[in-house]
Amino acid sequence: MSSRRTLIAGNWKMNGLRQDGAALAGSLSDKARSAGSLSFDMLLCPPTTLIAAVGTEILGSGIKLGGQNCHHNEKGAHTGEVSAQMLTDLGCDYVILGHSERRADNGEEDALIMAKASAAHGAGLIAIVCVGETESQRDSGEALAVVSGQLKGSLPDGTTATNTVVAYEPVWAIGTGRTPTLEDIEEVHVTIRAELASRFGAEIADGVRLLYGGSVKPENATEILAIADVDGALVGGASLDAEQFWAIGETCP
Ligand code: PGA
Repeated sequence: MSSRRTLIAGNWKMNGLRQDGAALAGSLSDKARSAGSLSFDMLLCPPTTLIAAVGTEILGSGIKLGGQNCHHNEKGAHTGEVSAQMLTDLGCDYVILGHSERRADNGEEDALIMAKASAAHGAGLIAIVCVGETESQRDSGEALAVVSGQLKGSLPDGTTATNTVVAYEPVWAIGTGRTPTLEDIEEVHVTIRAELASRFGAEIADGVRLLYGGSVKPENATEILAIADVDGALVGGASLDAEQFWAIGETCP
């Protein structure tokens, strides 16, 4: 098995004004600097308005920066949108794409997410492509089929282990305090890796990092991160608290 470096990603969603964002990023930077080199990758994905300020706070700390969305076109008449290159210009290495909140709130479908992932790759960003079933899909036994379908539809040709991360986030676990059983997480992650292998080959599939997201907290991170095919976490609520987010990082194997 290739050595996949654990990634702990914080998705701040639509939270934080300049002062809060700088304080949160500053506090995590201090911790990272005093820890010396980290054994895992820590990533902050603040709202677009805070990316520049967070970038300044984390300079030299080893913490990485990412966006929460980008447009599928390189530039042009798209009022209110942000391009992948604008994110790299701000110092981002990553962008979250296809989060279930964007799928639900903005009607984003697989084909659009695939186009966004291509745009992200074109700009040199690592796309964190999110997939996950709703509660009714899980209850009706469709979880694996839904996730496989989303993967097929959202990952572009040209996906590699260095330009793509996949995040499995069951919709019903996001922000609810509920999580799937460890066996259910494992089953989905094994399925995702098998899907990647059948489309992109064993080597790429072996290298792509697979994150679990949905109510990850310091209390459950150890057991979730210990699952063989879980290579990190995408954290929402708990990433807004420096102590909690850092504590999740500290559970990294
Ligand atoms: P949560 O959100 O940790 O608050 O459940 C996770 C996410 O939406 O990425």
